[in-house]
Amino acid sequence: MTTTARAVIDLDVPGPTISRHLYGHFAEHLGRCIYGGFWVGEDSDVPNEGGIRLDVVEALRALQIPNLRWPGGCFADEYHWRDGIGPRSERPRMVNTHWGDVVEDNSFGTHEFMALCELLGTEPYVNGNVGSGTVREMSEWVEYLTRPGTSPMADLRRANGRDEPWKVPFWGIGNEAWGCGGNMRAEAYADLARQYATFCRDHGDNSLYRIAAGASNGDYAWTEALMKAISCLGCTREPRGFFQGISFHYYTVPGPWHDKGSALEFDTDDYYTTMVKARGVEEIIRGHAAVMDVYDPGKTVGLVLDEWGTWWNVEPGTNPGFLYQQNTLRDALVASVHFDAFHRHADRLFMANIAQTVNVLQAMILTDPESGALVLTPTYHVFEMNTGHHDAAALDVHLTGAGTKAVGDGELELISASASVKGDTALVSLTNLDADGAASVVLDLRGRSVVASRGRILTADSLQTHNTPDAAAVAPSSFDAVSVTDDAFGHGLAVEIPAHSYVTLELDLA
Ligand code: AHR
Repeated sequence: MTTTARAVIDLDVPGPTISRHLYGHFAEHLGRCIYGGFWVGEDSDVPNEGGIRLDVVEALRALQIPNLRWPGGCFADEYHWRDGIGPRSERPRMVNTHWGDVVEDNSFGTHEFMALCELLGTEPYVNGNVGSGTVREMSEWVEYLTRPGTSPMADLRRANGRDEPWKVPFWGIGNEAWGCGGNMRAEAYADLARQYATFCRDHGDNSLYRIAAGASNGDYAWTEALMKAISCLGCTREPRGFFQGISFHYYTVPGPWHDKGSALEFDTDDYYTTMVKARGVEEIIRGHAAVMDVYDPGKTVGLVLDEWGTWWNVEPGTNPGFLYQQNTLRDALVASVHFDAFHRHADRLFMANIAQTVNVLQAMILTDPESGALVLTPTYHVFEMNTGHHDAAALDVHLTGAGTKAVGDGELELISASASVKGDTALVSLTNLDADGAASVVLDLRGRSVVASRGRILTADSLQTHNTPDAAAVAPSSFDAVSVTDDAFGHGLAVEIPAHSYVTLELDLA
């Protein structure tokens, strides 16, 4: 059955800026994300610069990654940065207790991460260790990275080959403090976060955006505890002083934790359950934002979703601690509906980081451990198709008439849409979540004239379609099922979207 919907967009009423940091990434010392994914070492046959894989860097540059979070995740709270500097052959080893219980040789450390950021043209988001670290250790890492002139840590950095300080805009104060980051209660962590943040100094002209470790899913009480810890109702002082951002994590996990579901083998019911879960991110964003609004009506503190994405059972035969999973068209549609939700909450949501960039969870890139071959996943293409939204002004999309599907106790709206404008170009994103039916959407575009449009589509024969080293079965192509329409409501563009598809329309405006 074809769904017919109408989307009214006022092209001349720009809303809040869609921070490019909503398209951030996450690389943890987990499985083959760093080792084998980003890092092959200088002696590898895989073409590299200083040990960093050049094919991965080249592919990611097309995504214009705005920031990269490292070294964890759970790993961050057992990582001691001094183990990862100096000559590689002399670096101490440790056990990565969270992820596979494997020995970490620390060959990828601070200098390697900063070199990776420079190659990618991205801004570093370093996540410090609260769970098993000290205030002094974190304070000295900030000094090592960012302090100009002479000081104990700046001199140590220089001795290790880097004269000038780096710019590090984003700093995480621990991770998942309610769980792997130390099993703390919210109030206990809130006090610690204030203490740690105090000693994460701004050195020279480097200004840190400190991010407190936030809630799991809809734990709004955690967010409230953090907001209470940094604000004072009725005071004139703004709460932004201690930390500038508060994070939360939300994964799309349709099954129970012990059996999350297969990335490749799923039926239509599993697909719809996944989409309900994915669209659920919006309610969670709204909930955290509402709590923050009470304590920070001026919206000076940013909400940061620094881990999101699908989490499936690991691929059969792979290390359960490595979280390696395949990626299908279904994952791509999960990404597209997340981005629509992000755009709608651009007034509070400042940053988001997909988990994770290479070989782990909802990855952009999968690399073959034997051949080294690289695969761009369907999710990669959604990120690329969305680059036009980076730092554009959000536009409200008033959507009516979208079909719905009963799923469990609830209902899934089958069309997701968002839009933005930057100068004389608008970008409209449209996702048809119907597994089987095409959707017809009339875009009622008001306020400015549209002089040209260019469409792209990401779809495939089935929701299970995925890419392999031999076949790039899911990749964007041009889309022209768009026609000018004059109906009872006025002038618009009629768009025919095939089942399970993601479409972008770039509009030239007069
Ligand atoms: O992304 C994988 C893990 O998920 C992270 O290390 C942790 O923060 C979260 O639980």
